[in-house]
Amino acid sequence: MRKIKENLKMIEKRMADRRMRIAMSDIAVTDLHDILTIENENFTNPWSFYMFYIDIFVHTDTCYKIAKIDGETVGYGGFYFVMNEAHVCNIAVRKTHRREGIGERILCTLIEEARKTGADRMTLEVRVSNAPAIGMYEKHGFKAEGICKKYYSDNNEDALIMRKHDL
Ligand SMILES: CC(C)(COP(=O)(O)OP(=O)(O)OC[C@H]1O[C@@H](n2cnc3c(N)ncnc32)[C@H](O)[C@@H]1OP(=O)(O)O)[C@@H](O)C(=O)NCCC(=O)NCCS
Repeated sequence: MRKIKENLKMIEKRMADRRMRIAMSDIAVTDLHDILTIENENFTNPWSFYMFYIDIFVHTDTCYKIAKIDGETVGYGGFYFVMNEAHVCNIAVRKTHRREGIGERILCTLIEEARKTGADRMTLEVRVSNAPAIGMYEKHGFKAEGICKKYYSDNNEDALIMRKHDL
C-alpha cells in the first residue's frame, strides 16, 4: 500500500513539474462519447457504447475511472473484481497525450481502488507485441505469468497474462 501511495505522489510530482493538472474521477454517461473516441483510436476490436454502458453503469462488480486535463478527456481505465482478484478490462490514453505519465496515473488509481475493494492481486491480458503497455505494467510490479495462445481474434495474436501480487 505504501508503495502505491509513493508511486502516486511521484507521478503527481512529475505532472506538477510539467504544469499538468490531471483529474481522475468516476465516469458519467456524458463522458461515454469521449471514451468511445479514444477506444476507437486505440483498439482494432473496440468496445461499443452498449458494452461500456453495461459494464460501467449496470454491473456492480466493476470500477472505471476517467482522466481529464483541464476538462479534456485524455484516458480511462477499468477493472472488474471477483473475490480477491481485480481484472483490468481496459486502459487507454489519447494518442496526442502519450508518454506524459497519464497511463501510469490511471493504472495506479485502479490499483488503489482495487485495494479498497479488498483485492490483493490484479491480473490482465496484453498483446505480446504491445511493448508500451508491457513496459508500463512491469514498471508497476506486474510479472508475466503465462501466455494465452491466439487470444486476440483479429490477428490470432497471443496474450501475455500479467499479474501483480500483494496490492
Ligand atoms: C499503454 C498506454 C496506456 C501507456 O500510456 P502512456 O500515458 O503513454 O504511458 P506513461 O507515460 O504513463 O508511461 C508509463 C511507463 O510505461 C512505459 N511506456 C509507455 N510508453 C512506452 C513506449 N512507447 N515504449 C516503451 N515503454 C513505454 C514506460 O515504462 C513508462 O515509464 P517512463 O516514462 O518512466 O519510461 C498507452 O500507450 C495506450 O493507450 N496504448 C494503447 C491502448 C493499450 O494498448 N492499452 C493497454 C491494453 S492491455
